[in-house]
Amino acid sequence: MNHASSSHAVDAHTRPFHTIIGERRATRHFTDEPVPEEAITEILHDASLAPSGYNLQPWRFLVVRDAANRRRLRAAAFDQEKITEAPVVVIALAPRNGWRERLDEVFAERVRRGSLPAEGIEKSKQGCAAFVDTFEPPAIWLNRHTMIAFTFLMLAAEAHGWDTAPMEGFDAGAVRKAFNLPADTEVVALLAIGRAREPDAVFPGRFPVERIAFSENLSTPWPA
Ligand SMILES: Cc1cc2nc3c(=O)[nH]c(=O)nc-3n(C[C@H](O)[C@H](O)[C@H](O)COP(=O)(O)O)c2cc1C
Repeated sequence: MNHASSSHAVDAHTRPFHTIIGERRATRHFTDEPVPEEAITEILHDASLAPSGYNLQPWRFLVVRDAANRRRLRAAAFDQEKITEAPVVVIALAPRNGWRERLDEVFAERVRRGSLPAEGIEKSKQGCAAFVDTFEPPAIWLNRHTMIAFTFLMLAAEAHGWDTAPMEGFDAGAVRKAFNLPADTEVVALLAIGRAREPDAVFPGRFPVERIAFSENLSTPWPA
């Protein structure tokens, strides 16, 4: 077992947070410029730092670079061209019981690091599992957490200077079949990473803060 540290060498080439979130656009077409393996590893490391309930980290990332595999993925994703254009597409997924299989490990690591007291650990574990099992269907909880890591992944790729395209347009059953994934694997989202082939799409706009945020009750827009 190998637990990563929460920090790594600061990459002088990463872009400032507000530039990333302000300038990121969903990329429509990619060039065939490859993304170096070390860059992909750094981006995945950044995604691994995402938070999750009880620190259970239920997400997994399947990195698809092979051209034939990308063709198969495209066929399972409404023929979206960017999947075969971009040199890398990451399938964000969550095995139904992946979190349960690593439950002991997660709690032991927390105790080892002093983030949880050793006393009562079995009871805490049982409480944790009972809580997660209240989500029905389990996909609700798996998606909630995997989307946070997916967002870290997307912003990390942008921070490292790459362009990205998030995708929900796929047939989960077809993706599972194409990659021999067990039937209880939740396929959450796809992320194409590479270099944009043309200028960014026009910013489609967002609701202003006063239409998405409220103060104390939903009848009072923020700022009050
Ligand atoms: C989770 C998610 C799934 C998406 N799925 C698709 C998709 O399957 N195909 C596509 O062309 N765009 C997809 N998009 C891109 C959105 O259309 C785009 O992000 C949105 O219109 C806002 O534009 P912007 O990202 O350039 O700001 C997706 C975006 C997100 C966040």
